[in-house]
Amino acid sequence: QFQFNFLDDNRWQFILSGLKNTIIITFFAVLLGIFLGFVIAIVRSTHDKTGKLKILNVICRVYLTVIRGTPTMVQLLIVYYVIFATVDPGKMVVAIIAFGMNSAAYVAEIVRSGIMSIDQGQFEAGRSLGLNYTQTMTKIILPQAVKNILPALGNELIVLLKETSISGYIGLMDLTRGGDIIRSQTYSALFPLLAVAAIYLVIVCFLTYLVGRLERRLRTNERK
Ligand code: ARG
Repeated sequence: QFQFNFLDDNRWQFILSGLKNTIIITFFAVLLGIFLGFVIAIVRSTHDKTGKLKILNVICRVYLTVIRGTPTMVQLLIVYYVIFATVDPGKMVVAIIAFGMNSAAYVAEIVRSGIMSIDQGQFEAGRSLGLNYTQTMTKIILPQAVKNILPALGNELIVLLKETSISGYIGLMDLTRGGDIIRSQTYSALFPLLAVAAIYLVIVCFLTYLVGRLERRLRTNERK
């Protein structure tokens, strides 16, 4: 009677609602990560190029060191049990903040390497055309940098999606936890866990396809 039967068992709904949470967390964490990551990268690059923003640069460097130097898992637990110990904004919000802040550190380094990949001459060209620093950055450097880092950003998106599978540790039912609940209730591990793995795989393949398409589109634009 412990068999997991998809037909007369509605436990697959754990997987469905888990999937929904996984997608929501990933989506908003990516937005937060990209936004914060760009800000950090621009602060650091500006400091490199102009020597300004000294204090902000130090803050960003400490942030990167701490975030990249500690496991995401520990950061998630700290955000949930320490930072939000007294106020509870909801587990989803906690997860989005934790994963978004974690991803930002990795995105920042990706963006910074993209900015460094653009020849210094592009910068000088912009400035000698009369553009100021901000205009040169936003109109000349960043558009080229983003094109170069697209594959790395796509990879970060995939890593982040899979990383959210630790959300269960704060009692949040994501895709992984959804499958695991079925395993624990039915004593049947094979199908629930394989289903979970297959769903991640399908999403990752889909995301890879989307990023590839975007990459090709940006490349065609260049030839015009
Ligand atoms: N799981 C590892 C950790 O806990 C790697 C995290 C990598 N994260 C990323 N967004 N690239 O540190």
